[in-house]
Formats: sequence, structure tokens, C-alpha cells
Amino acid sequence: MSVTVRVPAKVNVQLAVGAARSDGFHGLANVFLAVGLYDEVTVTPADELRVTCAGPDADQVPLDRTNLAARAALALAGRRGVEPAVHIHIDKDIPVAGGMAGGSADGAGALLACDALWGTGASRAELLAICAELGSDVPFSLVGGAALGVGRGERLTPLEVGGTFHWVFAMAARGLSTPAVFREFDRLAQGRDIPEPVASAELLEALAKGDADALAAATSNELQPAALSLFPELADTLAAGRGAGALTALVSGSGPTTGFLARDAESAEKVAEALRSSGTCRTVRTAAAPVPGATVL
Ligand code: C5P
Repeated sequence: MSVTVRVPAKVNVQLAVGAARSDGFHGLANVFLAVGLYDEVTVTPADELRVTCAGPDADQVPLDRTNLAARAALALAGRRGVEPAVHIHIDKDIPVAGGMAGGSADGAGALLACDALWGTGASRAELLAICAELGSDVPFSLVGGAALGVGRGERLTPLEVGGTFHWVFAMAARGLSTPAVFREFDRLAQGRDIPEPVASAELLEALAKGDADALAAATSNELQPAALSLFPELADTLAAGRGAGALTALVSGSGPTTGFLARDAESAEKVAEALRSSGTCRTVRTAAAPVPGATVL
């Protein structure tokens, strides 16, 4: 018997970053949108905990107990006093170290899958608490849709979305480490006053209306200067997408994946084609948003 869970990637349409806290994390106002690019996590009873991964970036995925999927299984097993004897297989389509919460998706997916496999019957609140322990973006991978995340991004409020948004994502030739991007944010912020991060009212309204033009005008990512500082070539990718008619172009989360909002599906295909022939990225994908969070198949 196996259980498979499908989990979406995310893009941050707003990422407001506060000063570093005493625990090293940064206060955030983080508006997440779940996008239709997915990892699938399958758990099967086995003699002991084992992780395998397939997909174009599979060789970059750690298969030891640092993998968030393994940590999720261990966390649930530890709480329930069961043996974490499962084979976790990840079919990976979300870019690795890309700023699209691929690792977080696998954590949320493994948690939900193990809960179903073991019949743990954990409440939604307990699953969310375990997700928050695993990482700041993991709760959102579980819930999907659209949400505002505050605290370090783990405290979620669901958001209304009045339509479908059409996105194009350009995957970069190499990854960026999230801690390194936050460190670069701190370095660039030295000597500056950092305001409390707050969600943009215009942005929330644009989401609620499903208005792509208004959303494009309101998107922002305060980690973007840090990501560009560590990966300057991303500016060429952003320019290529803008030049092809994207309504807005931004680094997704800590990057280096770049996201481009298009007016409709047809325009998204044009932007994708232009990015593919621009020579400024590794692969290009289109995806609609929002989509549901982790789902047992
Ligand atoms: O929570 P998560 O493990 O995904 O965070 C990875 C790293 O990103 C943290 O160790 C920290 O360096 C940085 N981070 C941060 N502030 C946040 C979220 C993440 O500084 N709110």
C-alpha cells in the first residue's frame, strides 16, 4: 500500500522583509500564491526510512535525513511513537534551490502522506504546527491557494483570489542558498532603517479582484536586490521577460527562479517562447495560480 500526495510550488507576489530578529530569522510580510508546478511524494512501508528522488534536478536533492521529507516523517513518527519505516519517493518537478519552496513542498507532502499511511489522524492544527517546525514556507505548501504569512512567514491568513493568474517561470543555471540571500540582505541593509514589514493593501485588493494589471503594479520583493547582488545575470532574464510583454518580472522569493506575470494564457506562451530563445535561463515553464495545497491523490 502506498500514498501519493501532490504539492504545488509557490511564488511570492509580495515579500516585505524586516530587520534580523534575535533568533536570526527575519520578520516578514509574505504574500504567497500557490502555482501549478508540482512535486509528487509517495510513501510506501519499508524496513527503514529511505528517500529517493527522480526528475531533472534529482541529483541536487539530498537523500539523507536533512531532506525535509525525511524530517517530516521523523517528526510525525516521533510525536506518535511509531517507527518511521517508510520509503519516501519524490517525483520532482519544482526547481531545486529555486525560491519556489520545492523542499518545503516535499516536507508538507511527506507529512500528509505519512499521516494517511499510518492512519495517524493528526488534526489540521497539528499538521500545521509540525510544518512550522520544519521550515518557514512549509505551512503554506500544505494549505496552498493564496495566503499572507507573517512572523517568519509561517503564521498564515488565507486570502481571497478573484481569478486565475497566468505565470511564466524561468529557472536559472544554478541555485541560490536562502540563508546566503538573507545574509546579503543584512549586508545591504547595514546602516539603513528597516521598517516593519506590512502587506500592501493595493496588492491584496488586486488579488481579491483577480486583476492582473493591478497585481503587476503592486508586486514587490525586498529580497530581490540581495538575490541580484549574488546573481547579477538574473537582471538579463528579468529584462528579457519584460521586453516580451510580461506585466511584471520579479525574483521568486530568495531566487534565483524569476517569475513573470502575463495578462492571459496566450501572452504567457509568448513570454515563455521569448525567454526560451533569450539564452538567459536554463528552462522555462508556464503555470496558472492559485491552485490547492498538498492533496492526497
Ligand atoms: O525557515 P527555513 O528553514 O526555510 O529558513 C531557511 C533560512 O532562511 C533560515 O535559516 C534563515 O537564514 C533564512 N530565513 C530568514 N527569515 C525568515 C525565513 C528564513 O532569515 N523569515
